[in-house]
Amino acid sequence: MNGAAPLDRVSDFPAIPDGWTYLDTAATSQKPQLVIDAIARAYDTTYATVHRGVYARSADMTTAYEAARRRVAEFIGAPGGADEIVFVRGATEGINLVAQCWVANQLKSGDRILLSMLEHHSNIVPWQMAAERVGAAIDVVPLTVDGRIDLDAMEAMIRPEHRFVALAHVSNVLGSVLDGARASRIAHSVDAKILLDGCQAVPRMTVDVAALGCDFYVFSGHKLYGPTGIGALWGRAELLEAMPPWQGGGAMIDRVSFERTTYAPPPGRFEAGTPHIVGGLGMAAAIDYVAEIGLDAIHAHETALVARTRDALGAINSVRLLGPEDSAGIVSFEVEGVHPHDVGTILDEERVAIRAGHHCAQPLMEALGVAATARASFGVYNGPADVEALVRGIERVRRIFG
Ligand SMILES: Cc1ncc(COP(=O)(O)O)c(C=O)c1O
Repeated sequence: MNGAAPLDRVSDFPAIPDGWTYLDTAATSQKPQLVIDAIARAYDTTYATVHRGVYARSADMTTAYEAARRRVAEFIGAPGGADEIVFVRGATEGINLVAQCWVANQLKSGDRILLSMLEHHSNIVPWQMAAERVGAAIDVVPLTVDGRIDLDAMEAMIRPEHRFVALAHVSNVLGSVLDGARASRIAHSVDAKILLDGCQAVPRMTVDVAALGCDFYVFSGHKLYGPTGIGALWGRAELLEAMPPWQGGGAMIDRVSFERTTYAPPPGRFEAGTPHIVGGLGMAAAIDYVAEIGLDAIHAHETALVARTRDALGAINSVRLLGPEDSAGIVSFEVEGVHPHDVGTILDEERVAIRAGHHCAQPLMEALGVAATARASFGVYNGPADVEALVRGIERVRRIFG
C-alpha cells in the first residue's frame, strides 16, 4: 500500500462491525477494547475519588490519576513534566482557559492576536471573546494555494503589537501539517506567545512540544482513541504560574477564608471541582495504545491511505480534491454539482461514514469558495478496503446525479 504496510487494527475496535467503513476519525475516533476495559475497570473495580480521600482506595486512585498526568506529559515531551499538564474537558476548554487566563489578563487595548484562515471555530471564537474584553484586534494569516498556513506571509505580517499567536498543528479540514517549529520562531521573533491546537496532530504524528518550541499546546482525548470529556492543556511552567485561576471551587485552593483565598500552584489551580477521574485513566490507556503501535507507524499508515484516496478520487473527473498532497490522515473533496450532504447520505447507504459540512471552519469554507465539503479521515482501523468502499460509493453518487 504505497510503501507502508496496513496496520490492520480493526479487530481491536468492537464498535466497528464487518462491512462498515468509518471515515470520520477527525470528528471523533472509535475506541479500542483496551481503552473500554480500562474505563470499565476504573468504574467496576478501583473507583473512588482523588486527592481528598484518607482511605487506601482513594489514595490508589489518586496515584493512578496522577500517573495518567505523567503519561500525558511524557507523550508530548513536556519539558517540565506533569506539573505542566492541566486536565481539561477537551481542546475547546484548553483554548478557552488560555484565552481567559493569559490573553484577557496580559493583553491590553491596541495589542493584536494572530490566527490563520484555516482555524476551527474553537481556535477563533475564544480569542475573539478575549480580544473584545481587552480591546485587542485579530489578524489572519492567509493560506498557500495548496491549503497550508502561509508562514512566509506570517513572517511578513507579524509585528511587535502581536502578543499572541494561535494556529492549528494539523488542519481538521485540509489535513495540512504546520511547521510548528518555524511558526514558533516567527512568533517569538516579536516576543509573542504561541499556542498550537494539536487536536488533529496527536492522533496522527509524534508530537514533542519542546522541539516545536511553542508555549501552549492543547488536544482532546476523544480524537486520540480515548474517552470524551477529557483533554489536556500543556503550558510552559512559568506561564502557567503567571496565570490567575479561571474557575473557583474545591481542589484549586491553597487556603480559603472569607477574608482572603489563596490558590494552589498549577496545574491544580486550573482544575476546580472533582475532575473527570476515569477520563484521565482512559486517556492514559489510549496513549499506551497508540504508543504501542508507534506514532510514526500510524503516520506512515495514514499518509499511505491519503495518497491512495487522492489517487483514486483524483482520477474521477467530477471530484475536486482540496488541501495539500501530503495532508495528514484527512482528505476533503467536492463532487461537482452534488451537495456534500447528499454525498454523505448516499455513502451512508453504502455503509461508509464520512463527514459533510463546514467542519466548524466557516471562514475557511468562505476562503475556499464553498459552503461545505465532504471529508474522509482515517485512523488505525482503516485499510485499503475502506478506500475502495469510499470510491465505490462516490461512483454511485455520480451515477445517481448523472
Ligand atoms: C483542529 C481542531 N481544533 C479544535 C477542535 C475542538 O475539539 P473538541 O470539540 O474536542 O474540544 C477540533 C474538533 O473537531 C479540531 O478538529
